[in-house]
Amino acid sequence: MNALVINCSPVRTGATAEIVRLVSEQLSPKYSTKTVCIDDYGFGFCKGCRSCHTTAQCVQHDEVDLLMSEFEWADVIVSVSPSYWADIPGQFKAFIDRCTPWCNTHEPHACISPGKKGYAIALRTGPSMKECEKVTGSIEHFYGHLEIECCGRLGLCSVEFKESVKDREAEIADFCRQI
Ligand SMILES: Cc1cc2nc3c(=O)[nH]c(=O)nc-3n(C[C@H](O)[C@H](O)[C@H](O)COP(=O)(O)O)c2cc1C
Repeated sequence: MNALVINCSPVRTGATAEIVRLVSEQLSPKYSTKTVCIDDYGFGFCKGCRSCHTTAQCVQHDEVDLLMSEFEWADVIVSVSPSYWADIPGQFKAFIDRCTPWCNTHEPHACISPGKKGYAIALRTGPSMKECEKVTGSIEHFYGHLEIECCGRLGLCSVEFKESVKDREAEIADFCRQI
């Protein structure tokens, strides 16, 4: 079984990257694990043209397809996202917008294989869990329209830098036990 762990932050060495590393370490005895960063991929913004509503394809050809091939490879997808202005970072939102060809609200639409399980982890600097729930909610909304089953979520408040993740290792390991 394959697990894909996504750093949804553009920062490759920050708190999100550290959580991705810990999740990958926890999952690797059980899964063949791959980690990616949203910033590894170059792609344009959705133009809102809706061509994909009739063709199930985007008019742009770029590295969205490469990241979607990682989704296809994975049985389990763990998206780890910081809160940027109380939601997912723009880079990740831009990717989700570009996944409209795979969105199940129009016919025809492209499909990834069924049976995938999705997990969402949110982190933020502020203290209120409500904002983490907003971030995990955005991820789960995306999973839902790709027919990826939402299987678990974790919110981590009061995290700013990589160093603040140290105290949260047990919480992250606990969460990973259900995956
Ligand atoms: C552009 C930007 C916007 C942010 N907005 C929020 C916010 O609205 N609420 C919050 O609690 N933290 C906010 N943060 C803090 C991040 O969620 C937090 O530092 C997180 O650990 C960043 O992880 P990263 O360095 O891996 O991207 C923001 C950080 C940045 C860079």
